[in-house]
Order: sequence, then structure tokens, then C-alpha cells
Amino acid sequence: MSKFLKEWKRSHNCGELRRDDVGATVVLMGWVQNYRDHGGCIFVDLRDRYGLTQVKFDPAVAEALLAEADRLRPEWVIAVRGQVVDRGSNENQNLPTGAIEVEATELDIFNPSKTPPFPISDRADANENLRLKYRYLDLRRPALQEKLVLRHKAAQLTRSYLSDHGFLELETPILSKSTPEGARDYLVPSRVHPGQFYALPQSPQTFKQIFMVAGYDRYFQICRCFRDEDLRADRQPEFTQIDLEMSFVGPDDIFDIVGGLVKKLWRECIGVEIGEIPVLTYQESMDRFGIDRPDMRFGLELKDVGDIVANADFQVFRRALESGGYVKAINGKGAAALSRAEIDRLAEVCTRYGAKGMAWVKVQDDGWQGPAAKYFDDATKSALSTRLDAAPGDLLCFVADGFKVCHDALANLRLAMGRKLGLIDDAAWRWTWVTDFPLFEEESDNGRYYSKHHPFTSPNPEDLHLLTSDPNKVRSVAYDLVVNGVELGGGSIRIHDQQVQKQIFSLLGLTADEAEAKFGFLLEALSFGTPPHGGLALGMDRLVMMLAGTDAIREVIAFPKTQKAADLMTGSPSPVELPQLDELHIRTLRQSSEELE
Ligand code: AMO
Ligand code: AMP
Repeated sequence: MSKFLKEWKRSHNCGELRRDDVGATVVLMGWVQNYRDHGGCIFVDLRDRYGLTQVKFDPAVAEALLAEADRLRPEWVIAVRGQVVDRGSNENQNLPTGAIEVEATELDIFNPSKTPPFPISDRADANENLRLKYRYLDLRRPALQEKLVLRHKAAQLTRSYLSDHGFLELETPILSKSTPEGARDYLVPSRVHPGQFYALPQSPQTFKQIFMVAGYDRYFQICRCFRDEDLRADRQPEFTQIDLEMSFVGPDDIFDIVGGLVKKLWRECIGVEIGEIPVLTYQESMDRFGIDRPDMRFGLELKDVGDIVANADFQVFRRALESGGYVKAINGKGAAALSRAEIDRLAEVCTRYGAKGMAWVKVQDDGWQGPAAKYFDDATKSALSTRLDAAPGDLLCFVADGFKVCHDALANLRLAMGRKLGLIDDAAWRWTWVTDFPLFEEESDNGRYYSKHHPFTSPNPEDLHLLTSDPNKVRSVAYDLVVNGVELGGGSIRIHDQQVQKQIFSLLGLTADEAEAKFGFLLEALSFGTPPHGGLALGMDRLVMMLAGTDAIREVIAFPKTQKAADLMTGSPSPVELPQLDELHIRTLRQSSEELE
């Protein structure tokens, strides 16, 4: 065993020593950040997760150490014993420990390191795949360490807050049955039951409802969820939720608890006070922002101009309106100064989201200019000017299409324009609850509907009669928590009446037998005295992303997966041995085709 571990204990960490410590004899242990030879003295910056301390090997102090110190290279792990000395005029103002250095009198090398494939530095420009393969090296970077420390802090605060509010932290199974969050399941084959599979939970949804049936009226869990879906910047195939459920509550009770939690997290993690969180209905959010997770840090709101342009001599608009669609517009305040190429790029945003084009005009002192100007007569221009609050210098952008495309295109145009015009205040936090979502997605086929949230979400009691006559008009008691255009969490009040639950399953195209096969256990449970209940899940990874001010989800997960759902460090997924598959009663397509040959 190393003499330092036997005889000495680490006395300080590498971020701790200050001028007050001058004269003390200390033992530091850590990684060599860098190595410099200055006129016979060797300087090493020693690093651990607390910081950097300069260590000096001076031949005048300990001549015998020099040869050993000369071998040191980045990422070697060492221990040094020495005296804290004042750096005087050589103080490094950029380093918290910069007033001092440790003059080494003893050195022990615990472990050398291979030359790392990239330097451990926050100017990390190495290829991301390389950094993911050597994740343990990347995790040594202070910027990543800070994010994981923040994640730890958020988790601890969450636990204490919810526990203080009477919530029990209870676990639910990972090997289980499919849960209905709408993504593809990850399946796990059963060895014991040939041809049968577990599904990894997309969320603990069914179990937390069953906790309510069982009388555990306040449940929470910081849990892993698994969804096999197309990945984006803020999505991972396995991610973490702060999941909670409560009995005998309405949405306002959930808003109070969750609002209190995010207020505490923002205050204690980043010193930001969140005021009252306003509530916006889905309808209002779509009308004003074209999206159900509005970024309310800036204006550029959408305006419906269908009634004004209905008679304009513009086929594109007419056709959209005649087939039940919309014509909506955004006034880019002051954006008439944009060049043709810049406007074309904004139009490309619209087409990327499915629009057939973006009609636009520049409002100038001497009238309207641009390709769409010719379609509007003076009366229409005047009415549009009033509705859009148009003034010289503005750029008016129009999209005509069905509900989804019109709103998607304009919501994304709004964001692009907000960014382009520098309207988004990076330091602002704009929170909102979005409520009253439709129960079903807009698109249905052959009388089959799709849940907007999940099939256990309660319809708004006022709309129950519409379940038979006009299901698309039924509002749900579902809500999302949104901040700066990011959906941080979502939840709902659940159905606790089995008749209504059956009606929903049938609208979702599940026969009684299918519903029984999929969720029979839950339906059965609900028939044994179910309290009214509801809950919500916050995306923990997204929450930490927001707190950390990053827009990359991989930055806040210790061992994340790539866009293609691979773990480059362990090399998973990976092939397995055939006997293992045999045991699981599984035959791959490759095996089958080899057999045919
Ligand atoms: P939902 O599906 O809306 O609700 O998920 C809740 C929150 O989880 C986060 N989230 C994700 N984060 C990272 N990667 C993903 N692939 C991913 N998918 C979702 C989002 C989202 O708001 N059982 C319900 C909750 C309930 O009804 O109580 C549920 O899972 O931030
Ligand atoms: P024109 O050149 O006269 O055919 O005008 C077409 C203009 O309308 C172009 O600027 C198109 O980008 C735009 N346009 C085409 N389809 C749509 C649409 N669905 N909504 C809004 N603008 C459109």
C-alpha cells in the first residue's frame, strides 16, 4: 500500500487552501492537471472536484524529489505532502487558491495515466463521440462536475420538500407491463415464460394510481423511465422523472405542491425568485403562440386574420379557409429591415414545419411592399394594419393551412424571428401552467381517437356529454408546467369512474378484451374503492438543464446515450451469445436466414 494512504490522510482538498493556511503542512491528493518546468523548478496544478492547487517542486527544498516529479504527466494520480507558502506578487487572481502554493517535500505516485485522448479542460472542443466513449475523462471537467453537483442538490431538495409535505418515496417495478405514455416500449424477454415479455416502464403511471387505490395518498419517486422514441436535444431513451400522485385533490392542489417545489429549487439552486405562476388555457396558448408550450419571454403573438382576408384575391388563403383551415399572421416589429435572403430563411422555417409557403409584406412609409402586397386592397390593408398593429418598418408574415400546420409553422417562425430580432431575454424566466388540453389529439382515423395525455386522464366533467356527440371538443383535466418554451412537466386528474374509463377505451379503439388484456389489473383495482386522484411528473433532466442553463440533455446526465440510443462507453447495445438467446427462446432474423442457407 502507498505510504501516504498508510501514514497520511488527505488533509485538504484541492480547492480549499487560502492565504490563512500559509505555514501549514498539508497532504493533497488528486490528478495532475498540467506540468511545467521553470528554470529547475517543476510546477504541477493538482486537481480534484473541488478545484486546483499549484504544487511546486523546488530543488532547494527537496532535491531528491525532482527526478520523480519530472516523470509526472497529465492525469496521473498523486499525493504530495508539503508546506503552504504565499505566492506574494505571483498570486493567480483567477484561481480561488491562487494566493498560495504547496511546496512539496514528499511525493507519492498512486497511478500513472495513459495520455488522455483529449485534454481535461472546459474549452472542450473534442468530438462529442470521443468524449462519450471516454465519459469518465469528460466527467472530470469542472463544467460537467458542476452540473452533476447541481443535479444532486436538486434531487436532495426535492426529496426533503416532498417528504416535508407528507409524500412517501415509494418504488415501483422496472420489469413490468407496458404503460400508456404513447412511445414504443423497451421489451425484456422472459426466460421462465417462453415467448413472453416484460416492458420497461415509460412512467410509473399505473402503479402510482394503484398506490392511491391502496390508500397511500401522497406518493413520489425520482424514477427512471424508458421510451423508445426518436431522440431530440431534450429527449433521452432513458430519463428521470420526479413523479408524484395525490388523492382527494383538484388541479389547484397539484399546482400548489409543484409550484412550491420549483420555487424552492430555483431559489436554492440558482437564487431566482419565481412569482405567482399564471395559468393559460390550451386554447389561449394555441391562439396566441401557436403551441402548447409557449415561450412567453417575448411578444410577436399570432393573430387570426381569416375573417379579414377571406375575400382577398389570393387563392392560397381562400383555399385554406374554404377547407376549414386558418390564415394567421405575425407582425415582425421593425423587421422590414431584414434582407430578402433573411426573409427567405424565415420562410424556410415555415416550410420545414409543413407550410406550403410564407406570404409576407414589408410595411414602408410609402405603402406595402413584397410578394403578397398585391393581393390586398386598401380596405383589407387597413383592417390588417389595425389587427396586427402594423406601422412602417414592420414585416407581416402570413401562413394559410390546416390547424396543425398553420400553428406549427407560425410557432416556429415566431421563435426564429424572436431570436433573429434579439427579443429573447436569456436571463428571464417566464413560467406558465397550460390547462384544459383537449382529451384527444386533433387527428383521428376511422372513428378511432388518440389520447393527448394518456387514457386515464379525466375528461372535464362539463364536457362529458360531448364524449358521444363530439369527442374532439372534449377538454381534459390535464395540465403542463412550461418555462421559457420548455415542457417541464405534465399530469392530470385521473378517471376514477369505471364507466367513463370504459367509454374512453372504446373511443381509443380498444375492445373490452384488449382493454382487459392491457390494463385489466388497473381496471380491477379501480373497482375496489378508488379515491379521486391526480398527479404530475416533472422531467428531472430537463429541470436540471434549465437550472444549469444548458440546452443539451447529455450535459446533465452522467452516462447518457447518443442520438442513436447507444452508450459509447460500454458499447451497448451489443450482440449477445447464441446460447443466451436460446435460453430466452429468441431467434433473430439473422439466425433464421443463416438456417435457410
Ligand atoms: P409525460 O409523458 O408528459 O407524463 O412526461 C412527464 C415529463 O417527463 C419529461 N420527459 C422526458 N424527458 C427526457 N426525455 C424523454 N424522452 C422524455 N419524455 C418525457 C418531460 C415531461 O413533461 N405519467 C405521466 C405523468 C402524469 O400523468 O402524472 C407522464 O409520464 O419533461
Ligand atoms: P405568388 O408568388 O403570387 O404565387 O405568391 C405566393 C406567395 O405566397 C409566396 O410568398 C409563397 O411563399 C406564399 N405562400 C404559398 N403558400 C402559402 C401558404 N399556405 N400560406 C402562406 N403563404 C403561402
